[in-house]
Amino acid sequence: MSTPHLILPNRTAPLPADIAYLREKYPRETWDAHRNFGDTARFWMQMHDMFRELGGMLKTATHHFREGGMAPEEFHRFFAPRLRYFLGHLEGHHGIEDAQYFPLFRSYDKRLIVGFDLLEEDHEYIHEQLILSAQTGQAFIAALAEEGDARRFAADAYAESADRLLDWLLRHLADEEDLVMPTIIEHTETALFSR
Ligand SMILES: [Fe+2]
Ligand SMILES: [Fe+2]
Repeated sequence: MSTPHLILPNRTAPLPADIAYLREKYPRETWDAHRNFGDTARFWMQMHDMFRELGGMLKTATHHFREGGMAPEEFHRFFAPRLRYFLGHLEGHHGIEDAQYFPLFRSYDKRLIVGFDLLEEDHEYIHEQLILSAQTGQAFIAALAEEGDARRFAADAYAESADRLLDWLLRHLADEEDLVMPTIIEHTETALFSR
């Protein structure tokens, strides 16, 4: 287990510099122009941006619906397929990181072990919250056909779990990028992944 202030539910700032030890050498603004920023890095960032964008869209649409700005049928058509896509792909993305990529980083340099163990632990917190969001999301979708309090309570329960999921996810994505991208740039994708 990680130190209490670093676990995802308690983490409110970027990872400390002794864990993200290459972050200062390769600031975020310089990543995508660097010659070692390869296809895997680009795809990784694109996936993260997709999760940020889709998570933000779901949050905005839910808020809009709760404010009365959208009919239930219209909201249902927008919301249900996107929520399924978001949660399913997020689960898949973390599975690939845990099984394939994180072990390669850890085995490349011992100094990376602490950070990638922490990120893997983040996935567990996110997984629990994702399950809760899927359950409350299903209940919310089912309650769209109902009027009044039942629908409002279901919307409240979903919004609460989804907002927490998104907060945690945004923290996790940024911290993961702070470890992954500078490490790729320092060592190259060939050195890290072709072993
Ligand atoms: Fe991750
Ligand atoms: Fe990721």
